[in-house]
Amino acid sequence: MGFWLLCVLLAAVSGARGWGYYGCDEELVGPLYYRSLGASSYYGFFTAPRFARLHGISGWSPRIGDPNPWLQIDLMKKHRIRAVATQGSFNSWDWVTRYMLLYGDRVDSWTPFYQQGHNATFFGNVNESAVVRHDLHYHFTARYIRIVPLAWNPRGKIGLRLGLYGCPYKSDVLYFDGDDAISYRFPRGASRSLWDVFAFSFKTEEKDGLLLHAEGAQGDYVTLELKGAHLLLHMSLGSSPIQPRPGHTTVSAGGVLNDQHWHYVRVDRYGRHTNFTLDGYVQRFILNGDFERLNLDNEVSRAEGVVWLRGALAGWGTALLSTKVRPCFLVPPENH
Ligand SMILES: *[C@@H]1O[C@H](CO)[C@@H](O)[C@H](O)[C@H]1NC(C)=O
Ligand SMILES: *[C@@H]1O[C@H](CO)[C@@H](O)[C@H](O)[C@H]1NC(C)=O
Ligand SMILES: *[C@@H]1O[C@H](CO)[C@@H](O)[C@H](O)[C@H]1NC(C)=O
Repeated sequence: MGFWLLCVLLAAVSGARGWGYYGCDEELVGPLYYRSLGASSYYGFFTAPRFARLHGISGWSPRIGDPNPWLQIDLMKKHRIRAVATQGSFNSWDWVTRYMLLYGDRVDSWTPFYQQGHNATFFGNVNESAVVRHDLHYHFTARYIRIVPLAWNPRGKIGLRLGLYGCPYKSDVLYFDGDDAISYRFPRGASRSLWDVFAFSFKTEEKDGLLLHAEGAQGDYVTLELKGAHLLLHMSLGSSPIQPRPGHTTVSAGGVLNDQHWHYVRVDRYGRHTNFTLDGYVQRFILNGDFERLNLDNEVSRAEGVVWLRGALAGWGTALLSTKVRPCFLVPPENH
């Protein structure tokens, strides 16, 4: 079967928070048409979900006794989300003290947002007036957002006004059938990096297959593959006869990644310090070996470095056939 890749343009990573989405901080709920705000139920006309906007004249409340209350926002198309903010219902005793955030591209398939340490609970409000904003420690993309209240003011009921911060998501989605590949060719001279970022999302039904591969003439490589539905990162910054400490490092992440849902992978490397992120869960480690730079250039053929993104079940290092370039997911921020 196939393999989908969501190709993210991570332009010009130049700061610690460089996402290539500078200024991506618009409030997204306020401008929505009222049909975009839905809920499991509501308490009365003036607590319908359409009132769940920050600083609005009331707020959303579910029916008393709703066993599974939720508020749902349809952003109409995919957005990148970086923060969430809540407020109680105007001039009331109704506010939410703890909640969960779910997101997805379809209304029948939700992913919980996990905070650091796999805790999906957000702290909400302490009164009806103050807006409490949480900047998310990883950004996600979704069309639909659900807020699930878990606890609320014991002297009132659930009352919620919601803000979401982010921007429309610009991306290309590419489909691979197991044989295709796309390549990213570095600008000349930019393929010896001290600092780099790889980030992309994928979904597939396959348990095994190569997702990304790049190698240089000096034996450096970076490979991301699925094996038994786990994600493996293999990386080496090289080794040499003089410094024979082997440079190879393998780290695995996740389980059941062939579930046909999008998974977000990100590798941040500075020297040998590496953060390997899968769906918001970060593993930090130090690469083996003595080298600090990833050299993906090929001095033999005098070609620049190339990164290959491949679909499932393909062999690697074989199909160097395309010269068509898509600067799709990788930008070495600086050429040190
Ligand atoms: C998870 O969050 C809740 C509320 O935000 C908190 O009470 C709890 O201690 C947290 N658990 C962990 C393991 O951090
Ligand atoms: C609401 O709570 C915030 C603290 O979160 C506080 O600064 C503010 O004064 C409170 N507002 C009222 C009206 O009590
Ligand atoms: C890894 O994450 C930590 C904590 O967020 C951060 O301080 C560090 O700079 C990151 N390292 C890299 C190489 O991005």
